[in-house]
Amino acid sequence: MAGSLQTDTQLSADVLLDDSRLPKVPEPGAMVIFGASGDLTARKLIPALYDLATQRRLPMKFAVVGVSRTQMSHDEFRKKLRKTLNEQRAGKVRDSVWESFCGSVFYLPGDTKKAETYQELKDFLKRLDGERGTRGNRAFYLASSPTLFPAVVEKLGEAGMNRGENGGWARLVIEKPFGRDLESAKELNTGIRRYFEETQIYRIDHYLGKETVQNIMALRFSNSVFEPLWSQHYVDHVQITVAEDIGIGTRGAFYEEAGALRDIVQNHLMQVLCLTAMEPPVAFDSEGVREEKVKVLKSVRRIPRDKVGEFAVRGQYTSGWVWGEEVSGYREEKNVAPDSTTDTYVALKLFIDNWRWAGVPFYVRAGKRLPKRVTEIAIQFKRTPHAPFAGAENLEPNILVVRVQPEEGVSLKIGAKVPGSGFRIRSVNMDLLYGTAFLEEVPDAYQRLLLDLMLGDPTLFIRADETESAWDILDPVISSWAESEKVAFYPAGSWGPAESEELVARDGREWRRP
Ligand SMILES: NC(=O)c1ccc[n+]([C@@H]2O[C@H](COP(=O)([O-])OP(=O)(O)OC[C@H]3O[C@@H](n4cnc5c(N)ncnc54)[C@H](OP(=O)(O)O)[C@@H]3O)[C@@H](O)[C@H]2O)c1
Repeated sequence: MAGSLQTDTQLSADVLLDDSRLPKVPEPGAMVIFGASGDLTARKLIPALYDLATQRRLPMKFAVVGVSRTQMSHDEFRKKLRKTLNEQRAGKVRDSVWESFCGSVFYLPGDTKKAETYQELKDFLKRLDGERGTRGNRAFYLASSPTLFPAVVEKLGEAGMNRGENGGWARLVIEKPFGRDLESAKELNTGIRRYFEETQIYRIDHYLGKETVQNIMALRFSNSVFEPLWSQHYVDHVQITVAEDIGIGTRGAFYEEAGALRDIVQNHLMQVLCLTAMEPPVAFDSEGVREEKVKVLKSVRRIPRDKVGEFAVRGQYTSGWVWGEEVSGYREEKNVAPDSTTDTYVALKLFIDNWRWAGVPFYVRAGKRLPKRVTEIAIQFKRTPHAPFAGAENLEPNILVVRVQPEEGVSLKIGAKVPGSGFRIRSVNMDLLYGTAFLEEVPDAYQRLLLDLMLGDPTLFIRADETESAWDILDPVISSWAESEKVAFYPAGSWGPAESEELVARDGREWRRP
């Protein structure tokens, strides 16, 4: 009897849990993608929507409308998208799902600089409201070149599309990069706010859609063992690494304008820093989480303009070997100036001047053509105050590593006794691999974010003050580098320039080799 009672209790607990997690399905609505013939739409947005369709997470009454200048019919557009999806999924696309999904995908050729495009779009969306029941709800996804963002927002506003039809909602999604520096980000925010309220604006950083990035919060705020140690009392320093083994491929022209600081550090790396350092939010909702993230950014000590060299390293790869293949240097890449000073590697030393983190350096780095692709956060704890075992002083300190990609998981380096006589201690890893702990498939970041967008939940999107604060931290570095020719070179396939090693070595520390 006791057994069956236990089972019943267990069952009701599961049911309760399930009830609270019943998947929410968004209201009917249309998603307009500006930049529909581009790479992001075909490789990320449509596959994410197709996956949502597979899981029946899309509303029954839903439509996607792609807009770009290339002349295509609806069918040509659908065929183009299907081709990319087939390539991406090695042919494993479910025909029945695709057929039903692609029936709600449409294409409207048009130049987003021209007002008539918006009139046509407006009429088309109204038609869809009537024919497909999209109820006047619209999400506008800006997936074209960032130089077009201000014009698209203005034209949407002038056409009165900044409000949904007949009481429906209108939301605006803006891809990265959000500006080039603090001034341009502010200008963009001001321009957008002329037509859209902050609650309508969804600034995307796909890192926040990654399960393992969200897991930083789960790890910190659902376990009582880590949080008490998570401060200057026990933490010696923190290292955040976003390493890529690839170069810039065919995107030379884009990268010359961006560089690693703008492309990775201002957005992805700063977001990871915020989640690592923030205080527990009052609730896991858009204001609770974003408020705490902004507080972190505001507490980051600003680097004095004349001391940028002490806190920041700008690196660039030269030719070398990656995974056994000889690769060219950045300056030899296509569409790159032979004397380019663009940063393909950045290392920064940051301090967060608040009660929790006073005096703890956060060393952060991001780079291309490093030995491997890895994103991780390493919390290095202080050494024990006294080592009672011979040789224990040479042990590595405890390090908690949260691996965001690849092989997502958490590992804790601890000292353990080597079996046998005597008392030798060695550092070993306690590993949790998500891939083996959970059987569920890890959804792509865009899947989560597109669903949240349609549900109207901006928790995992960036607020205006967040993006401005992140630029504010980096502005002294940007302006100092703009006036200098100094670049620290590193051979492709190495862990970055010697200057970066010196940045941490000056503090008696060293970079990890993940
Ligand atoms: N690709 C990625 O993996 C990725 C990742 C993160 C963020 N992003 C961001 O996403 C955005 C798009 O990137 P992408 O790689 O997809 O760029 P892309 O492949 O160059 O696509 C740009 C799109 O904009 C359209 N376009 C350009 N001028 C236009 C105009 N005047 N009117 C209408 N459409 C116009 C182009 O189509 P037509 O030539 O047919 O007009 C094309 O569809 C950028 O902000 C990028 O930074 C991309």
